[in-house]
Amino acid sequence: MTDRRATLQAFFTSMHGAIRARTAASDSAAIAAGKIFAGLERPEPAAPRPADRVPACRYIDDALSDATRTDHPAADHARALAALVPDLTWYTRPGSDTADDSFATSHANATIVGNGGLARCPNVRIGVSLLAPNVQYPDHRHPPEEIYVALSLGDWRQDKGPWHEPGPGGIVYNPPSILHAMRAGSMPLLATWCLWNG
Ligand SMILES: [Fe+2]
Repeated sequence: MTDRRATLQAFFTSMHGAIRARTAASDSAAIAAGKIFAGLERPEPAAPRPADRVPACRYIDDALSDATRTDHPAADHARALAALVPDLTWYTRPGSDTADDSFATSHANATIVGNGGLARCPNVRIGVSLLAPNVQYPDHRHPPEEIYVALSLGDWRQDKGPWHEPGPGGIVYNPPSILHAMRAGSMPLLATWCLWNG
């Protein structure tokens, strides 16, 4: 468990660092991140469970190799994520297998902190999402506020407004319950996310 603790801590530190690098201390994203990562000083390791992959995981190696290039603005965070990837239990969005076959096989999510993840912490959920090229993750909303760290190219939008591309290392902050979506262009979209439900 010591190694898992160290790789998780490196991931948390790199994620908080990536968020701080692109936000001012007074930004909502920085304030939410402060609460999230303070809570993670004492995560409870989760019981080991078998790692699992879904079809869209065929894109993870390419996405990580792009994201871990040394000139990538969030390369440290991508490398910390890469160390956890072999242990993750990947899943598809609930209900997506009945909605559209191509969507079910072209996206993947994994929880890092929270149910089904590698650790638990009250009020915090952290994970990673991967989209195949030219795939859109549907508009969705949830009560907890959320921060994405983009580790690739790809577009985000809120309230069906215009799409924007934060770029690798860019931060997207979603206030509580706002409608939001993301879509990949010609490359896979890779992003980590964290939610605060305090
Ligand atoms: Fe979300």
